[in-house]
Amino acid sequence: MLINNIKLPITPRVFLVATILMLWNSCTDQGNPVMESTPEILLSTDTLSFGAVQISDSRLRTFEIINTGNAELTGEMSLDESGTPFTLQHTLGYTVTAGDTLSVSVLYQPGAMHSDTAVVVISSNAVNDPVVSILLVGSGSPLPVPAYDVSTQSVDFGTVVAGEMSIRTLVIRSVGTADLRIDSLEFTDSSVQLSGTTLPVIIAPNDSLVLTLSYSPDVAGTLSATLTIFVDVLGEEQISVSLIGEAQQATSFANDIQPIFNAKCVGCHGGSGGLILTTGNAYGNLVNVTSQGYAPTPRVTPDDLTNSVLYGKITNSGNYGGLMPQGGPALTTAQINSIQQWILQGAVNN
Ligand code: HEC
Repeated sequence: MLINNIKLPITPRVFLVATILMLWNSCTDQGNPVMESTPEILLSTDTLSFGAVQISDSRLRTFEIINTGNAELTGEMSLDESGTPFTLQHTLGYTVTAGDTLSVSVLYQPGAMHSDTAVVVISSNAVNDPVVSILLVGSGSPLPVPAYDVSTQSVDFGTVVAGEMSIRTLVIRSVGTADLRIDSLEFTDSSVQLSGTTLPVIIAPNDSLVLTLSYSPDVAGTLSATLTIFVDVLGEEQISVSLIGEAQQATSFANDIQPIFNAKCVGCHGGSGGLILTTGNAYGNLVNVTSQGYAPTPRVTPDDLTNSVLYGKITNSGNYGGLMPQGGPALTTAQINSIQQWILQGAVNN
């Protein structure tokens, strides 16, 4: 709202650059088509919020100027008025090469017990937005104030077999001048839980709290959930962290793999020496057993498809002789996928 009411100064220089650009564009529009070189500007945020900062203290926040175009972006940045408690930690002029990002820090040192706002005006030769701005907001507090910093905004649990568990940690740092209280957590998916910590917890300034999160899915599926952390920073605030992961159905050797061997392999691998794939013998003939034809590679190496002769043969990789079943036809994609997952899940005898 506020940002709309502020008049943005357009310096003559920007006007000149814009004019040259317009002229140049109109030239290239006619005649031979020329690859256009255009700088484009993108800002990481339109508002930098400093929160409550103790009057004797200061806080640094950073925004980014991203050049999404294909030519050098150059221009000037300044605060809309002098005398604000904000200081730009950067020279007036700046340059960002194509595809690059420039980080700019702003320091906030409140002088009084009220809220402060200012605007950073960024002019450039960007074709999309020659003048952009960022609103700075903060408030001075006479009291020590708590503040937090969270190590990540997204926790990825990776791929987990249903029935097993994946553990990740999240660190909350107390970066204010007063104690920070973590009140509670809320998960939108009950397969993720907090372990080892009982809330509320109070974190002294400069200390941190490591939260251990466990993801233990019962069934296959995709995790896309949110963790909300309720913290007390002179009033309740909520921190949102996204939680992602993938749960895979556990492959059973007895129920998923042995039936494939029974149907497609035991006709030849039924017991006259060499590889025996009948029920009761197959597992002991495969996992960590050196192959006869392709030593020293084992027939199956747990978690390792490349070094499993069985997998090389059913996918006809060419690394270990010909396709199995010998003479074809190849196993179905579903059957190959089952064997692949069984190996990647540790090739257990389940
Ligand atoms: C028509 C007969 C036949 C069928 C059916 C067959 N195999 Fe084979 N298999 C062979 C022969 C012959 C060899 C030895 C030559 C070679 O390694 O290619 C062999 C070798 C192998 C080897 C290498 C063993 C080692 O120690 O070197 C693996 C692994 C294997 N087969 C897996 C399978 C699987 C899995 C199936 C079923 C999907 C299957 N085979 C079906 C005939 C067959």
